[in-house]
Amino acid sequence: MVTVYEDSEALSRAVAQLFAQEARRAVEARGMFTVLLSGGETPRRSYEMLAREPLRSSIPWHAVQLFWGDERWVPQDDPLSNLGAARRAFLDLVPIDETQIHPIPYESSPHESALSYERTLRSFFGVDAPRFDLVLLGLGENGHTASLFPGSAVLFEPYRWVCEVYVAEQDLHRVTTTALLINQAALVAFMVAGKGKSAILQRVLEGPTDPNEFPAQLIKPAQGRLLWLADHDASRLLSERTLREKQTTPA
Ligand code: 6PG
Repeated sequence: MVTVYEDSEALSRAVAQLFAQEARRAVEARGMFTVLLSGGETPRRSYEMLAREPLRSSIPWHAVQLFWGDERWVPQDDPLSNLGAARRAFLDLVPIDETQIHPIPYESSPHESALSYERTLRSFFGVDAPRFDLVLLGLGENGHTASLFPGSAVLFEPYRWVCEVYVAEQDLHRVTTTALLINQAALVAFMVAGKGKSAILQRVLEGPTDPNEFPAQLIKPAQGRLLWLADHDASRLLSERTLREKQTTPA
């Protein structure tokens, strides 16, 4: 389902509210809320809203366990670090203990970082694939999500939950969770904003199914819900057919 918001501020508010609502629901049901966060620029405003009222005090922070869907292979204090961005946007401002924050580590190589994070996930969740209460994802203009880039060897990874990737256009090593892992989640929410994303959003949702070219199409939770949350600008090329299914929400 695609839900369209009037502008990026309304979209950001909806994503922050979704985080808070799912946190309360999961903590009531099981005493814990596990979430896989997206990097990139789009969620930053939502993260800031989590640290401000009225949402801040509505979130059971003591029971939140935070993981990341992907990370640049850079030290944690590097400006490119997704962890660093999340710390600045909200982690430094909310009552959460360091033991509840599970970043993708910067080890001696991208491969070591990926193996280490896989161990972290396996020791936290046990042998079964983690069923995250919420996975937040962004969409790149080339159809990538997390660090699952077009044509990458890790797209159809059958065993590993975390893999290293090299992104030649950026000359950057990254570490990503795999579609195998993400698709075990109870709820996956894509957040897409801005005119620059309209063409790729249209192709991912309405174009031919070609996950090798549009990796975001790999994301289909096996036993969970999938939400596409977009602002008006990002959704402007969607067809009448998709628009009929969409739900327009006022700002
Ligand atoms: C990251 C991501 C990545 C991101 C998209 C969209 O760490 O960069 O997790 O998949 O969500 O590239 O990025 P923007 O939100 O910055 O457009």
